[in-house]
Amino acid sequence: MLKQKHLLGLEGYPAQDIKTIIDTAFSFREVLDRPIKKVPSLQGKTIVNLFFENSTRTRISFELAQKRLSADTVNFSASTSSLKKGESFKDTAQNIEAMKIDAVVMRHPDPGAPLHLTKHVDAVVINAGDGKHEHPTQAILDMMSLQEVFGKIKGLNVALVGDISHSRVALSNIYGLTALGANVTVCGPPTLIPPHIETLGVKVSHDLDAVFEWADALNILRIQMERMGVGLFPSVREYRNLFGVNTERLDRHGKELIIMHPGPMNRGIEIDSAVADSKQAIILDQVLNGVASRMAILYLLLGGKAEE
Ligand code: CP
Repeated sequence: MLKQKHLLGLEGYPAQDIKTIIDTAFSFREVLDRPIKKVPSLQGKTIVNLFFENSTRTRISFELAQKRLSADTVNFSASTSSLKKGESFKDTAQNIEAMKIDAVVMRHPDPGAPLHLTKHVDAVVINAGDGKHEHPTQAILDMMSLQEVFGKIKGLNVALVGDISHSRVALSNIYGLTALGANVTVCGPPTLIPPHIETLGVKVSHDLDAVFEWADALNILRIQMERMGVGLFPSVREYRNLFGVNTERLDRHGKELIIMHPGPMNRGIEIDSAVADSKQAIILDQVLNGVASRMAILYLLLGGKAEE
């Protein structure tokens, strides 16, 4: 039903297929509101979750999505695998596939690792985040959450705020949002915005107050200390003053901006607790929509039966 066999990223991904995933996700959202939140769509399918990097939301969300669709699920953790004994990535992948699996959901610290995996296995591969490259399922759930609030994506003014350089969420959102006709601005310190990012069809701002005036929604990104080689801003305090989303700043503009964050959050740095827990924040809706979006992606890629 989707044009591509794998979901590796949203760069060049057909807009119509993103819309199909979001529409299907809304149907599954309805399943999640039922007393019995399970459908037989992927009965008999086996999916391996191959996580080489830490995760809370994405991993649990994929596992839940698989269970809600009645698929069989196997979890792999790099820290407890034979990779620790020197086995290569290729051998690990081929051994897992020899066990007759249908799909692999993969998170890896290296950009391109899921693409590399497709060269060694026949199974469907879904990228659950590869280094600083892409996190397509996060962007899809973000777009679904915007559509839930605004009823559309086209024409929305969406600002991605914070550490753009180290963010796979930012890149996948840029590809997805621009494909669906949203206007995108990236906002952060110059040291955290890649040069020439305008070539991707976005505007750049270093003035958060101006972005507040322009935007319908802010997607606030985590400062990724673990991916920074050297200090790229003078101090956390200065970052918070210039780019932190806090109630004083929101009150000053008196605007009902929608607040999003993919998590995990650094409360008190890029976002204040009062904002994260406010009525304007749809952060936990994003988490719920994540399960529905991943159900839709698995269902569409694995050719599930429409018998719910
Ligand atoms: N948003 C996200 O990818 O969170 P995790 O790293 O916890 O999976």
